[in-house]
Amino acid sequence: MIIERAYAHVAAHDEDAWPWSVPCVRLLLEEGLRFTAPVTFLVGENGSGKSTLVEALAEGFGLDSWGGSHDWRYATDRGKSVLGERIRFDAAPRGRRMLGSRAARKGFFLRAETALDALDREGFAPDGMSHGEGFLAAFRGKFLEPGLYVMDEPEAALSFTSCLELLGHLDQLVKRGGQVVCATHSPLLTALPGADIVEVGEHGLRRVEWRELELVDHWRRYLADPRAYLRHVLE
Ligand SMILES: Nc1ncnc2c1ncn2[C@@H]1O[C@H](COP(=O)(O)OP(=O)(O)O)[C@@H](O)[C@H]1O
Ligand SMILES: [Mg+2]
Repeated sequence: MIIERAYAHVAAHDEDAWPWSVPCVRLLLEEGLRFTAPVTFLVGENGSGKSTLVEALAEGFGLDSWGGSHDWRYATDRGKSVLGERIRFDAAPRGRRMLGSRAARKGFFLRAETALDALDREGFAPDGMSHGEGFLAAFRGKFLEPGLYVMDEPEAALSFTSCLELLGHLDQLVKRGGQVVCATHSPLLTALPGADIVEVGEHGLRRVEWRELELVDHWRRYLADPRAYLRHVLE
């Protein structure tokens, strides 16, 4: 493990203003978030706060909030988010070294909205390469050293087969001592054996089993009978 717990202490804050208004951020202030497995998936509805959380984790660890690897920090003048400024970690020995020294810090932040830009900057998405191909090139070339790898909905760009390849890279990364935190809606990714799944929502944060995930249940039922869902949205 690299980080074992994330938390934040904020003296005075406006509870009605972002990000303090987001339930999972409130829970982070109250209890913190423990990481109990090398891979943690964050799942939850749109707007539940997954991106707010993963971005702050990446920033707090010292990864560029625009996305990219440890050796490309703050390449943009986009400052840290308010939560990213305040987030702190209880780290394992290896993580403590990384937090203490920029030179020792390893990792990557794959941010959905800006991934192409970040990958292009690092030479992984030259013209003519698709979004998904750029992701795969980054996994193959960058997901190697033990460090903290933070991803925000990587499946958005990936085919079924490419998602499977990603799981293979994550497995290798973990075996080398790396740690992964990944926001996702993917029933495929969350099925990684041994991964922790944390559901983000009105309740804040809670651990769930893959089998009990609503998104898995919806996909199962949709694939079995699409019309059961479609009749609600189509005339
Ligand atoms: N920079 C921001 N400023 C103000 N509100 C924001 C900002 N980023 C996200 N939000 C709000 O915070 C909530 C959580 O957003 P987000 O973390 O992007 O959710 P998710 O990634 O789970 O879809 C949403 O209500 C969103 O509108
Ligand atoms: Mg998001």
